[in-house]
Amino acid sequence: MSENVKISIKHLYKIFGETPQLALKQVYNGMGKPELLETYNHVLGLQDINVDMKEGEITVIMGLSGSGKSTLIRHLNRLIEPTAGKIIVDGENVLKKDENELRRLRQEGMSMVFQKFALLPHRTVLENAGMSMDVRGFTTRDYEKEALYWLDRVGLKGNENQFPHQLSGGMQQRVGIARALVSNAPIMLMDEAFSALDPLIRSDMQDLLLQLQEELKKTIVFITHDLDEALKLADHLVILKEGGVVQQGDPQDILLNPNDPYIVDFISDINRARVLRVRSVMDPQMPEGDHYAGDITEDENLESVLSRSEGDTNLDYRVIGGDGDPVGTLHMKDLAKALVPTAASEERDQTL
Ligand SMILES: Nc1ncnc2c1ncn2[C@@H]1O[C@H](COP(=O)(O)OP(=O)(O)O)[C@@H](O)[C@H]1O
Ligand SMILES: [Mg+2]
Repeated sequence: MSENVKISIKHLYKIFGETPQLALKQVYNGMGKPELLETYNHVLGLQDINVDMKEGEITVIMGLSGSGKSTLIRHLNRLIEPTAGKIIVDGENVLKKDENELRRLRQEGMSMVFQKFALLPHRTVLENAGMSMDVRGFTTRDYEKEALYWLDRVGLKGNENQFPHQLSGGMQQRVGIARALVSNAPIMLMDEAFSALDPLIRSDMQDLLLQLQEELKKTIVFITHDLDEALKLADHLVILKEGGVVQQGDPQDILLNPNDPYIVDFISDINRARVLRVRSVMDPQMPEGDHYAGDITEDENLESVLSRSEGDTNLDYRVIGGDGDPVGTLHMKDLAKALVPTAASEERDQTL
């Protein structure tokens, strides 16, 4: 995976109200969101956000409603002006761009997929899929081939001449994704894109996104308030609370080492066996001897190993990496510990 930072957010603040710069001084002096609202009648939308989003990765921004997710994503293409801070895309400060550069960034650099699909009701599925080309002045004939290709890829072959109201919610969001892909923008911004869908359809859409991403390697900024969705999709997970980042990192690391009671609480109900992978709990010590119960792969989840071991905590497995070589040992005892949330964090506290 590429290590290039595609989007970098530095010391970003957003305050809503009459005199945000004055309110900002209070925030710099340590005033929090509730007090700022009570005393100064200003809303602290975002405070001191620092996030690097790597090229080809899915960065998930997760937080409860009102935590600042939409405010954050709208800064990336400057639909919102920050009160302080910088947004760097491809090494360039978005705040320094003039109208033309900004238009190009919005039309060609980034595509957006919205929760409410945002399809035009009187245009066909094909025309909706080609909307980004249409605003750039291309005709249907110019983008038809491309649009049909992506409609096919998202599972809408044969639906191209229908209108949005003839499609189910899931199908409409497939059009939303096709539209983003037809635009050919390297960055995809998805604000609660799957949140309005029924659970099974939602899960299908997550699978579709992951499957397309395997091949396309877009830089995706995905917003959700759903922890399961975040854990399934994120390469990098950023957890927001009241406008600030509480913790960010590899989702597996966050699960194993939550750094804040808020996160501990948040992850307490998660099915850890299903989410945690062998690579996160294995011992990097290379296997020796022949006492191994068998081979497992580093990307398997713990649930699959558990069922294979039939719950026997005395076993050790040989862990095989992506290139087929052994990369470590999984002791079933470590697996069992990782499944207990508090024990897992206590264990790590002792080793710090
Ligand atoms: N235009 C605005 N004026 C005043 N407050 C706003 C505005 N937009 C958002 N907010 C406030 O900023 C905070 C973050 O909102 P938002 O980014 O929409 O949260 P989320 O997307 O996580 O639900 C909330 O407290 C919200 O009320
Ligand atoms: Mg929102």
